[in-house]
Amino acid sequence: MTDYIIKDIALADYGRKELDIAETEMPGLMALRAEYGEAKPLAGARIVGSLHMTVQTAALIETLTALGADVRWASCNIYSTQDHAAAAIAKSGVPVFAIKGQSLAEHWDYLDRSFQFPEGANLILDDGGDATLYVLLGARAEAGEDIIPVPESDEETVIKAQIAKRMAQSPGWFTKTRDAILGVSEETTTGVHRLYDLQKKGLLPFPAINVNDSVTKSKFDNKYGCKESLVDGIRRATDVMMAGKVAVVCGYGDVGKGSAASLQGAGARVKVTEVDPICALQAAMDGFEVVTLEDVADSADIFITTTGNRDVIRLEHMREMKDMAIVGNIGHFDNEIQVASLRNHKWTNVKDQVDMIEMPSGNRIILLSQGRLLNLGNATGHPSFVMSASFTNQVLAQIELFTKGDDYKPGVYILPKALDEKVARLHLEKVGAKLSTLSSEQAAYIGVPPEGPFKSDHYRY
Ligand code: NAI
Repeated sequence: MTDYIIKDIALADYGRKELDIAETEMPGLMALRAEYGEAKPLAGARIVGSLHMTVQTAALIETLTALGADVRWASCNIYSTQDHAAAAIAKSGVPVFAIKGQSLAEHWDYLDRSFQFPEGANLILDDGGDATLYVLLGARAEAGEDIIPVPESDEETVIKAQIAKRMAQSPGWFTKTRDAILGVSEETTTGVHRLYDLQKKGLLPFPAINVNDSVTKSKFDNKYGCKESLVDGIRRATDVMMAGKVAVVCGYGDVGKGSAASLQGAGARVKVTEVDPICALQAAMDGFEVVTLEDVADSADIFITTTGNRDVIRLEHMREMKDMAIVGNIGHFDNEIQVASLRNHKWTNVKDQVDMIEMPSGNRIILLSQGRLLNLGNATGHPSFVMSASFTNQVLAQIELFTKGDDYKPGVYILPKALDEKVARLHLEKVGAKLSTLSSEQAAYIGVPPEGPFKSDHYRY
């Protein structure tokens, strides 16, 4: 019996070819396969994955299975799946539930299916926190407690309906599943915010590894990844001439820095909005004009949100915009732009994930991926090389949780710096980088071991 829901299994061969190419750009994952493939430290692990089902993620899945894990997978966004990657994974025998353009109800149903190991799941690999949230909310509902508010309000009814369905089908399932989970590794800033929030409220029942804040994740994927994939998404969506345009990047954190660099590299004149004075000063000193959205709403051509915050581009801003202004988000959730407030306007669908919306003034805006992360909705996300660094951290986190989970109390943890440096080291050769070595005198002089770690934990890179 087939245990997958994908677009078309006939796409598997195409997916496999792209997967073969991706592997040549993912030295970290391949090194882990070589190092641990025989020992199989994940034998007995049953991992639920909730992360964009792309070609790069397929390479992650095959690394986890090469290390002995059983894996079931769903995408963490309705638009981010690459159907040929999902097909290749399905054909390999790994259950996967992901279709580009699936509905929200399907999103939560597919997530539920990814938990359905016959013996039950014991690990979560999450991106944005939906898998973790699902189990925790369900267990609260089973205990008769109010379920904690879901930040994405338009998803709340869908989530509640899915939880009610599972509770009716298998009473007690959520509580049993929650109690069997050894831990979660979380990929992204927004998911990490959720985890720290749960921890603060005393609601996190298992250890969580914050993969995002490995230096080799957030200072690479969030930054250099977006530097490549933001403009890729805008181009595939609109084919607009970027050079000479005025682009506004809301937020100058890691994703904002990469996004501003991406647009600047394409020749756009980039302006930045920020609430944090440190990031605002960084933007100014990187050469970007720091403005408020109100100042530029009526004059800029391209607007991109990167904040991980809600209601950043609001209806009042969109009403001011020029005809054919492009509006998109690269942060994790779609609530950065008030898309719901546009629903009663005239929408013209141009193609998948590109809509033209007419404002009361008669001006039209081009909205990308309905406000969902556009680098994965309109393009194919980050390149393999940078995802190799992120996913090498993910695999190390899963090994840590599976083999040493008992050593951790419930809480949020970061991988040790030695592992972070190991991840970077595994990626040097591919870019032809030659590392210098410290003499013992030099190491003693700056107070570090000659073989590392080379920095204190509070060093900021
Ligand atoms: P970050 O915390 O480093 O940066 C966010 C920045 O936005 C901060 O500097 C903050 O001060 C600023 N900000 C917050 N509210 C604002 C407002 N109202 N106006 C202007 N600026 C505001 O977070 P990071 O790592 O840059 O991530 C941002 C988002 O992108 C998160 O949702 C994260 O999950 C997501 N992400 C998306 C990726 C993708 O491929 N699309 C890759 C990595 C992260």
